[in-house]
Amino acid sequence: MDITKTTKLFAGLGMLILTGGAFADGWDPKSNANSKPRDPIANTGGVGDTRHNMTMNYLRYGGSNDVGADMDEYRNDYGAVCVYCHTPHGANTQIDAPLWNRTVAPDSVYEPYDRPTTLMRPMSVPGPTSLTCLSCHDGTIAIDSVLNMPGSGRNPMNNSQNASRAAASNMDFLNQWAIAYPGTGASGKHATLGPDLGNSEISDTCAGCHNNSIFELESFRAFMIGTDLRNDHPVGVLYPDAAGVEAGFFNEPNVKLPGNMAFFDTNGNNRADLDEVRLYDSGEGYEVECASCHDPHGVPSGGSDTNTRFSPSFLRINNGIGDESHDGNINIVSNGPSALCLTCHTK
Ligand code: HEC
Ligand code: HEC
Ligand code: HEC
Ligand code: HEC
Ligand code: HEC
Repeated sequence: MDITKTTKLFAGLGMLILTGGAFADGWDPKSNANSKPRDPIANTGGVGDTRHNMTMNYLRYGGSNDVGADMDEYRNDYGAVCVYCHTPHGANTQIDAPLWNRTVAPDSVYEPYDRPTTLMRPMSVPGPTSLTCLSCHDGTIAIDSVLNMPGSGRNPMNNSQNASRAAASNMDFLNQWAIAYPGTGASGKHATLGPDLGNSEISDTCAGCHNNSIFELESFRAFMIGTDLRNDHPVGVLYPDAAGVEAGFFNEPNVKLPGNMAFFDTNGNNRADLDEVRLYDSGEGYEVECASCHDPHGVPSGGSDTNTRFSPSFLRINNGIGDESHDGNINIVSNGPSALCLTCHTK
């Protein structure tokens, strides 16, 4: 890191000490992610106002710094929010996900949940709507590992593309961005989020800074899922059939679209709304995947009241955080404890 960068970063960190606010467990609902500087409420409106804005082009509360610039050494700044995940053309055809612009790992690298479950429903590898999330959260793939960089001609030398399904990114290809647009990315360093709960080396990963030990910088350690999914809620697991539902352990989704998805249509409009839990059918029947419980663009906690802040952790249904029990929760509407879990489980 050169001197100017260091000075700039530490000027930023000085500010952090004043604002502070991360919790001991590292989870901080008060993300500063906010692409509308004049509206000080983060986590409202759209994906640009969430931690899924990888450009981080927003201002800190009351500050004037462009947060993203601090991170230019660690990821390409493509200058657009959607690009890190989607592309309008030339998407990854090897994964059944909407216009997917990222390299993804083959499902075989993941170790599925292996404990006995109540109904012992068939457990398989993560499906497409989990592989999308894992392409960042497993900590093996660079945050900026896309197939298409934005803008026509913005693929400077137009050679050596990223192979669609290669988890290991073509670094020469990613480096072309920094060469063409100096100051918006680092030659040679394309950081991953970091390893599973920080079990191994974290330098040169995002967690190298985001680990709660450097001043009060948000810790990302809890969000690093790794490739070992044995300690995570099962994904790629077949939802109970009618017999399982009758046995009284599970609720039945009231809309089923074979070959596509099933969902709990709580408002009866026959659409899978953002705040309705869904199960995905990628050929084996309805399965639980990451996007069953989470929407990566954020879901207003007050349902149709879009002025409310998003449910924490991108959850489709707020699982009990809110009601202003501490100041980080202001304007988050809770659905009550375990509301998400009880959508599927009857307990
Ligand atoms: C050199 C240290 C450093 C590294 C490495 C780093 N960051 Fe940051 N990050 C910062 C600073 C400083 C901030 C501003 C803190 C704030 O907004 O409170 C920040 C803020 C963020 C935020 C906003 C957090 C919030 O809730 O407001 C996100 C998201 C983020 N970084 C993602 C990343 C990603 C992804 C990587 C890896 C590609 C990364 N960072 C690597 C220093 C770093
Ligand atoms: C961090 C990754 C990420 C970012 C950033 C992102 N998306 Fe998505 N998007 C996804 C994933 C994953 C899905 C698939 C969700 C599913 O299958 O339910 C998706 C689905 C969609 C869909 C299909 C409809 C739906 O919601 O299921 C649209 C449209 C979409 N995204 C638009 C956008 C736009 C526009 C932006 C930028 C403003 C954006 N996304 C930014 C990850 C992202
Ligand atoms: C382009 C990379 C990328 C993709 C794809 C992605 N994420 Fe993230 N996600 C991040 C980064 C970076 C952060 C901010 C650092 C952190 O909190 O771990 C984050 C944060 C989160 C958080 C914590 C949010 C908070 O405010 O505390 C959740 C939950 C999450 N992601 C879930 C998902 C799910 C589910 C998917 C797939 C539907 C997904 N992510 C896809 C990069 C990604
Ligand atoms: C059955 C529902 C469900 C599924 C499936 C699920 N999650 Fe979550 N996830 C949650 C809940 C609930 C939380 C909030 C936990 C908390 O507040 O401590 C969460 C939190 C997270 C967080 C934030 C870290 C944390 O501990 O708060 C990340 C990142 C995340 N999930 C990613 C994923 C990814 C990636 C997948 C797929 C491999 C996935 N989730 C599958 C329910 C789910
Ligand atoms: C989208 C539906 C869905 C949601 C939401 C959901 N689960 Fe599950 N869960 C399942 C399915 C399906 C299984 C596997 C059932 C089986 O094989 O018996 C499972 C398995 C489990 C297991 C493994 C043990 C067992 O008896 O099966 C636990 C524990 C669990 N879920 C807890 C939770 C918690 C806690 C939440 C809320 C954070 C939650 N689940 C949300 C569908 C869901």
